[in-house]
Amino acid sequence: MCGIVGYVGRKEAAPILLDGIRKLEYRGYDSSGLSVWDGDFSDFKAVGKICELDKKIAGRPIAGRVGIAHTRWATHGRPTEENAHPHLDCSGKIRVVHNGIIENYQALKTSLRDRGHEFISETDTEVIPHLIEEVYDGDIISAVMAVVGMLEGAYGLAIIHADEPDKIVVVKRGSPLILGIGPEEMIVASDAAAVIRYTRDVIYLEDGEIAEIKDSGYRIFDGQARAIEKNIHSIEWDIERAEKSGYPHFMLKEIFEQPRAIEDSIRGRIIAEEGLVKFGGFDAIIDKLREIDRLVIVACGTAYHAGLAGEYMLEEHAGVPAEVEWASEFRYRSPALGPSTAVLAVSQSGETADTLAAVREARARGAFTLGIVNVVGSTIAREVDAGIYNHIGPEISVASTKAFTSQATILALLTVLLGRQRRMTQGAAREILEEIKLLPFKIETILKQSDYIAAIAAKYRDAEHFAYLGRKYNQPTAREGALKLKEISYIHAEGFASGEMKHGPLAMIDEDFPSVFIAPRDSVYEKNLSNMEEIKSRDGRIIAITTEGSNEIEVIADDVIYIPPTLEMLTPILAAVPLQLLAYYIAALNDRDVDKPRNLAKSVTVE
Ligand code: AGP
Repeated sequence: MCGIVGYVGRKEAAPILLDGIRKLEYRGYDSSGLSVWDGDFSDFKAVGKICELDKKIAGRPIAGRVGIAHTRWATHGRPTEENAHPHLDCSGKIRVVHNGIIENYQALKTSLRDRGHEFISETDTEVIPHLIEEVYDGDIISAVMAVVGMLEGAYGLAIIHADEPDKIVVVKRGSPLILGIGPEEMIVASDAAAVIRYTRDVIYLEDGEIAEIKDSGYRIFDGQARAIEKNIHSIEWDIERAEKSGYPHFMLKEIFEQPRAIEDSIRGRIIAEEGLVKFGGFDAIIDKLREIDRLVIVACGTAYHAGLAGEYMLEEHAGVPAEVEWASEFRYRSPALGPSTAVLAVSQSGETADTLAAVREARARGAFTLGIVNVVGSTIAREVDAGIYNHIGPEISVASTKAFTSQATILALLTVLLGRQRRMTQGAAREILEEIKLLPFKIETILKQSDYIAAIAAKYRDAEHFAYLGRKYNQPTAREGALKLKEISYIHAEGFASGEMKHGPLAMIDEDFPSVFIAPRDSVYEKNLSNMEEIKSRDGRIIAITTEGSNEIEVIADDVIYIPPTLEMLTPILAAVPLQLLAYYIAALNDRDVDKPRNLAKSVTVE
C-alpha cells in the first residue's frame, strides 16, 4: 500500500532514498517524505507524486548517510503534508515510516493524549514515535520491541532515534520488508525494485522479526528478542526489468513482455514427451495432491478472473471439482472445507490483505493451502503450505496484464499435473502441453496488431459504457477485459456471460453502448454469434475477438480482432491480450494516468 526505503552506509543517503521511493511509487503515490540525519534531522514532505518532493528538495543539499523515506497511499487521514511520513514524537528525536494499518491506534492515541502527547496528523502511524518516546531508555531495539507488543494490525516500520543515529531499526508484521546487503551499506525497502540498483543480496524478513541495520552490517531478532540468522537470497531481476524500457508506460511494456512472461512461467516445468508437469514447490506434496477432492481458489480482481478460467480447466480436463471465491468474501463467510479440500491463493503481489486473510482462514480451518504468487518471498508465498512462483519479474503497472496470462497458464499446467494423477491420458496431456509451449509465439502474433487495435480504440474512445461478453472459458475473459478498461480509463464497463444478456442487460444496448464479444471458434461459437445478432438488431456496435479464419463474423461485428487458433481451454490467455491493448489505447487516448490510475494502488495490503 505504501513504500518504505531506509539507507545507512558510506554514501549520501538522500539520492538513494529518493531513487528508492521512485521505484516504489506504484505502491502508493498521494504524498511522500524523507528524513536524513547529519547531526540533526533534515525533513522534507510533499503532497502528490514524488516529483513534488523533488521540487521541494531541489537546490537544497541534504547531507547525511542515514535516512528513511516513504511514499504513501492514504488509509487513515487525507493526503496532506501533516499526514505524510516520516512521523515524529514530541521530543523530535524519533522518525518513523510505516506501511500498513495500526488497528488499535485510536485507543493508543487517546491514552497518549491523556499523558500529554500532542499529535499533528490524522494518521494511525503517528502513535508509534510517541510510544517509543515513552519507553525509550537508551536502547532503541528494546524500545521498539516493547512498542511492537502494543500494536495490533499490519506494519512494516523503519525507525531512527537521534540518540543512536548510526542505525535504523526495522520491524515486519503483515507488510513486506526486505534488507539489501551491500558493501559497507544496508538498504531496507518494501520490495526489490528499490534495492536491486545497489545490491542483489537480500534478506526477506518474516512476521514478528526486528532488524537493526548499520553501515557495518545487521542484526536480526525474532519475536522473542532472540538473535537469529537468515538466508541471503540473490534477486534474479536485472534493473531494466524493473524499469521501463522505452515504453511510454509500464503497462504497455508489461503487455509486450507477455511472450517472455509465459516462457518464464513454464520454463523447466513441462516434460512434454511424457505428458507431465513438474513444479519444484510441489515436490514435497505431490502425493498429497492426489488426495485432493475439491479445490477452492481465493483471489481478488484480475487474479480472481484467472482463477475463474482455471476453474473451467480443472473441472473439464482434470476432473477436479473447483470453485473460485473472492478472497474478501471467503474470509468472512464460514466456508465448508472438507479434509481433502485444498485452498489455492492466486496473487501477483503475494501481499493482498484479503487474499492473505483468506489463506489464514483456510489454515485455521485445517485446509491444505497452495499458492500461485509472483513476488518471491512475499507473505502469501511464505504462508501457504506449498506454492508456485510465476517468475515473470516485477509487474509495476497497477493494471495487471502479464500476471493474468501467467496465472492462467500456470493453472493450465496445474490442470495437467492434477489431471495426470487422475484420468488424463498421456496423449491428452501432451496435446495441451505442446499447445502451451506455442502460446508465446501466438501472443507475438497478436501484439503485431497493436497499431490496428489502437485504431479501433480511437473509434470507441468516447463511449461512456461498454458490455464485455463471453461464454465458458471466456466469461472470465469478458470480466477481465471489463476490469482492464474501467480501472485505467474510468469508463464504465461490465463483463457478462453472453447468455445472460437477454435476462436484463440487453435493455441497456443501443448505438451508444458498444459491446466487446470474446467469441473464438470454440464449442460455444455459434451461441455467441446468436448473441451478437441480438445486439446488432438493437443497433449495438460490436467489437469481436475471434479466431483467424472466422471471417463470417465480419458481417455482424463492426470491428474484428483475430487471434491464432488454440485449444479452447487456452483461449483466455490469447483473448486477454487484445483486450489489454484496447483498454490501454482508450485510456492513453483519453490522457489517463495509465500506470497509476486514481484511487487505486498496485498492492492492496489493507482491507
Ligand atoms: C487488476 O488489474 C488490479 N490491479 C487488481 O484487481 C489486482 O488484480 C488485485 O488487487 C489482486 O492483486 P494481487 O494479484 O497482487 O493479489
